Amino acid sequence: MIPFELSFPTRILFGEGELAKIGQEALKLGQKALLVTGGKSAKATGILDKAIASLQQVNLPYVLFDRIEPNPRTTTVDAGAAMARENHCDFIIALGGGSVMDAAKAIAAAALSNRPIYDYMRGNPANLWRELLPIKEALPLMCIPTVAATGSEANHGSVLTHWESHEKSSINGPGMIPKVAILDPTLTYTVPPHITAEASADIFSHLFESYLISNSTSHVQDGFSESLIRNVVHFAPIAMRQPDHAEARATLLWASTLAISAFTRAGRGIAGYPLHQVEHTLSGYYDIAHGRGLAILAIPYFQQIILQDRPERLARMGRECFGVTETDDIAAAQATIPAVQAWFAQLGITQRLADFSIPREVLPDLAAEAVRIGGNGSGYILGSRQLKTEDVLAIYEACY
Ligand code: NZQ
Ligand code: ZN
Repeated sequence: MIPFELSFPTRILFGEGELAKIGQEALKLGQKALLVTGGKSAKATGILDKAIASLQQVNLPYVLFDRIEPNPRTTTVDAGAAMARENHCDFIIALGGGSVMDAAKAIAAAALSNRPIYDYMRGNPANLWRELLPIKEALPLMCIPTVAATGSEANHGSVLTHWESHEKSSINGPGMIPKVAILDPTLTYTVPPHITAEASADIFSHLFESYLISNSTSHVQDGFSESLIRNVVHFAPIAMRQPDHAEARATLLWASTLAISAFTRAGRGIAGYPLHQVEHTLSGYYDIAHGRGLAILAIPYFQQIILQDRPERLARMGRECFGVTETDDIAAAQATIPAVQAWFAQLGITQRLADFSIPREVLPDLAAEAVRIGGNGSGYILGSRQLKTEDVLAIYEACY
């Protein structure tokens, strides 16, 4: 195992009905909240009303910012930060999916620094990110996920899109780690089947990315990741069929928080998520749902990269999580790919890039852009090998 330092400072309140604790938890964070949500679902489902009632019960003033779009944009973050400053909000509450939580984290940072959030992004030609990241300070933050997907509620990252340049990338830093996260699985009962599918593919991807690249000496983490993958594979179709299945929703929600945490990554000596870098450019340009993009790219990534570089890891994932029985590693690794594909098919997320009106001739530019942003100037995305532009292009071509 490679030496590591691990800190998990977010307090987690997990359970059905925990949403009602927003008010009492908010009192510990500040005096006036910016309450950040998306455009529709929190209102339509009644979750927003419940959150507001809890804040009113403890007489905590708040200002509502309900404009976060999926794949949140820097312009929206800057507007939210301006609203927080103008209204003297001294902490932030995020109520929504990963997009809302990511935007709220960035608002918390920008409201304090009074800088445009694009200053922090890696593709910005001004290159200020080298001084500004990692973000050390932001307004205190409470996150309440309403989709089981990103794990943003307990990590230090925020994924944003600068739509003008189509850069989609993450900013990060300990200042943006939420102080408290309320995980109430009942909030996810209204997530429709197609979003449950995309979200589950995202959880799976957070798990397999570090697991497959890893050497094989992180035994505790391996067992942990395998347990989480098995549960996501099992419960995602159940939650799609029966949206209020309490056991499925609770399992997916807790799995989503743990999947991207240091508990599954630490000790593997891997910093990044290479397939995520390959995907982010797609959703940055074409607004594809992140999890759907990952599911599309995963199969050629397994075939072209992992099968060559880490067949023994792919074989192990197949045997432990997808019922593969072959004893030979290469045969087992090969058998894992259709098994994963069958699970994606069960979830209904097996499209091709051509289905999103992406012209084939832009793929070389998209691949170069993915490497530019994901490589931080190195000329490659680091994974089991150095993924160069031609590797990324080959993945895009294979699933076009
Ligand atoms: O926009 P609203 O009206 O809120 O509706 C959302 C949105 O349309 C809806 N929704 C949310 N909660 C619901 C619900 N619908 C019914 N019932 C509910 N309870 O779901 C749609 C998708 O929401 P979104 O927040 O975009 O999904 P998700 O949670 O998958 O987040 C995706 C974003 O997170 C980033 C992705 O790149 C993407 O931008 N990521 C963030 C990470 C992080 N911070 O650590 C890591 C991830 O790898 C990922 O990159
Ligand atoms: Zn993800």
